[in-house]
Amino acid sequence: MAIKYGRPIESRVRFTEVEPEARPSPGLDLTTRPRRNRRADWARRMVRESVLTTDDLIWPMFITDGSNARTPVPSMPGVERLTLDHVVREAERAAKLSIPCIALFPYTDPKLRDEDGNEALNPENLVCKALRAIKKEVPHIGILCDVALDPYTSHGHDGLLRDGVIVNDETVAVLVKQALVEAEAGADIIAPSDMMDGRVGAIRAGLDAAGFLDVQIMAYTAKYASAFYGPFRDAVGSSKTLTGDKRTYQMDPGNTDEALREAELDVAEGADMIMVKPGMPYLDILWRIKEAFGMPTFAYQVSGEYSMIMAAVQNGWLEGDRAMTEALIAFKRAGADGVLTYFAPKVAELLRRQSGG
Ligand code: PBG
Repeated sequence: MAIKYGRPIESRVRFTEVEPEARPSPGLDLTTRPRRNRRADWARRMVRESVLTTDDLIWPMFITDGSNARTPVPSMPGVERLTLDHVVREAERAAKLSIPCIALFPYTDPKLRDEDGNEALNPENLVCKALRAIKKEVPHIGILCDVALDPYTSHGHDGLLRDGVIVNDETVAVLVKQALVEAEAGADIIAPSDMMDGRVGAIRAGLDAAGFLDVQIMAYTAKYASAFYGPFRDAVGSSKTLTGDKRTYQMDPGNTDEALREAELDVAEGADMIMVKPGMPYLDILWRIKEAFGMPTFAYQVSGEYSMIMAAVQNGWLEGDRAMTEALIAFKRAGADGVLTYFAPKVAELLRRQSGG
């Protein structure tokens, strides 16, 4: 060998002994050195197990009445409530970025909110108008719509409140109607986020009976009663109105087995996809559910997770792009098939730049 360790042989002959670097490790006699696979970018790429692509992203958007306006949500830096014209433009942007699906959340005029959330059933409500407008202009993007009454009720709860109790069966009957109104307006995926018992089965039956055989259901299967939804409630305007908390229907953060039982029910009732929410604090749940059911399984990186990262970035405490991608790859590693994330456009643009596109 004429060249060893990049040094011409002539220079080597001046040494009587082998250079220290060329000697076998003086310390450890290791057959396996995991660092070998990490020594260069190409090698790291070659052995990487989980990758994040734009196909993994679902982009949640907040919509509001009016035209040509974008209203920042102060607790979610970089996120805005959009009027319909802007929502259509952002849907176009999503399609151009190859983001497969967007999710629509309405900020309902407080005057339209009432005790029973009747606006949810109005075929001319914000979500339905946005669905029709987007389907017309951007027909090939998937649109997911929540089913739950909280953006429409004066008390901010997801279901009907009777004598201080969120009643289950009566709420489910309304949710089925809400799902039908959304499906009629063009929703591709119905996502019940209310955590009532039996809602997936009832919605499936309702959709099928009305001929919406192809409308998918992504169940918020394991949705925990979480503090991390705070900024979302600011965005949809339900933080001020919410009376009490949602612990009688959303899950207790101390439970795991219960999440598996919820998943079992949703799968049996006909869910096409299941979801765990919040995301990062519940990666163990995501992992167990994916392992147990092998269903298309999604994580919702919720508003509070987004806001935590953004707040730290704004303070100069975290590097934004790296924190964002690391948090998202964690969902893939834990078994997610995709992630609902407010970072969707940002990360899609980053991935595009990285691939030289
Ligand atoms: C409504 C709903 C919530 C979220 C999605 N759908 C809030 C809640 O249950 O109070 C939270 C999303 C987020 O925090 O980003 N049922």
